[in-house]
Amino acid sequence: MKTIKVKASVEYDVIIDKDILSRAGELSVPVCGVCSACIVTDDTVDALYSRELEESLASAGFKVIKFVIPHGEASKSTASLVSLLEFLAENKMTRSDCIFALGGGVVGDLAGFAAAVYLRGIKFIQLPTTLLAAVDSSVGGKTAVDLAAGKNLAGAFHQPSLVICDYKTLGTLTPEIFADGCAEVVKYGIINDRPLFELLQSGIRENLEEVIASCVLNKSKIVAADEFDTGMRQLLNLGHTVGHAIEARSNFGISHGCAVSMGIAIVTRAAVKLGICPAADLADVLDILKKYSLPTVCPYGADELVDTALGDKKRFGNTISLVLPFAIGDSRLYKINVSELKDFIQKGLEK
Ligand code: NAD
Ligand code: GLY
Repeated sequence: MKTIKVKASVEYDVIIDKDILSRAGELSVPVCGVCSACIVTDDTVDALYSRELEESLASAGFKVIKFVIPHGEASKSTASLVSLLEFLAENKMTRSDCIFALGGGVVGDLAGFAAAVYLRGIKFIQLPTTLLAAVDSSVGGKTAVDLAAGKNLAGAFHQPSLVICDYKTLGTLTPEIFADGCAEVVKYGIINDRPLFELLQSGIRENLEEVIASCVLNKSKIVAADEFDTGMRQLLNLGHTVGHAIEARSNFGISHGCAVSMGIAIVTRAAVKLGICPAADLADVLDILKKYSLPTVCPYGADELVDTALGDKKRFGNTISLVLPFAIGDSRLYKINVSELKDFIQKGLEK
């Protein structure tokens, strides 16, 4: 078992262990008391893990209700949010009650946003069941739903009161969904953790507890320093500006993890061509992505990506902030003029 303390505007623990879902009730009582618990989950996770959570909460004295969404990004919508808020109200949930988000990033982001706005804010606990949620989305308090105009366009910063990560649950992920999370794990190694990057060379599944704990520790330090994403938290977007453009260009046919992997490959190649990053580090980055069945070659040209990339949230006036690896374990924010972006992407696309 590993416990990591996140010191944001709210302090909370991230507990990482195998087989702790059955202890969720007793672990939650100290942070939210015995209250009404609304489990939010999706239909896939519901069939696999809800019963264990419900039994644990009920035996600790919680009154349990459950809200189930269809699995998939389409459920991270304003319609789901409104249905969930109405469900909380119909069931007379009060400010002293608590939401339990059991699932991947879709469930966590939706349930977290509902917790942020219901009665102007109630507590919520994250119980991540995908690798991506375990290492990234369950920690740090970014909550959101998608709008027709784009992903995550309505949201709030609202920190969870506790994160309970039972990594036994990752055993039922498909290889593709597990690989999506691997892209985020590789990202942390390249940002600021060369020892983690080296650990990945011996295997993520073989070192799951240590890998998740390292990622969470990295994220917790970044969130403590820049909770509201005005500076160094943007480092967590390594590969994401170009990755989001690839995802959007594919109409979301290319998964987030695969798009981020291509984005990491593109910015690292460009960093080498700019003389910023050693070529040997590029070779190691491409090897590790391939080891985790992640793509490094993008099917689109710079022309097709640049407009979408310019619509990114990290654009300020005529400059856009990219995250570039200066070496594995040393990534930095790097501002370029928007007029240089196409040439930058072009450099990263060429082998
Ligand atoms: P997801 O929540 O859609 O889960 C992927 C799929 O895995 C779903 O079909 C789900 O039903 C299934 N699944 C979940 N747990 C399972 C398990 N244990 N066994 C079998 N199947 C399981 O996707 P995700 O990749 O977890 O999260 C992506 C979302 O996270 C996106 O909406 C993204 O915007 C968001 N995100 C948020 C943050 C943040 O900081 N808040 C960070 C990164 C990503
Ligand atoms: N996943 C990016 C962040 O939490 O800031």
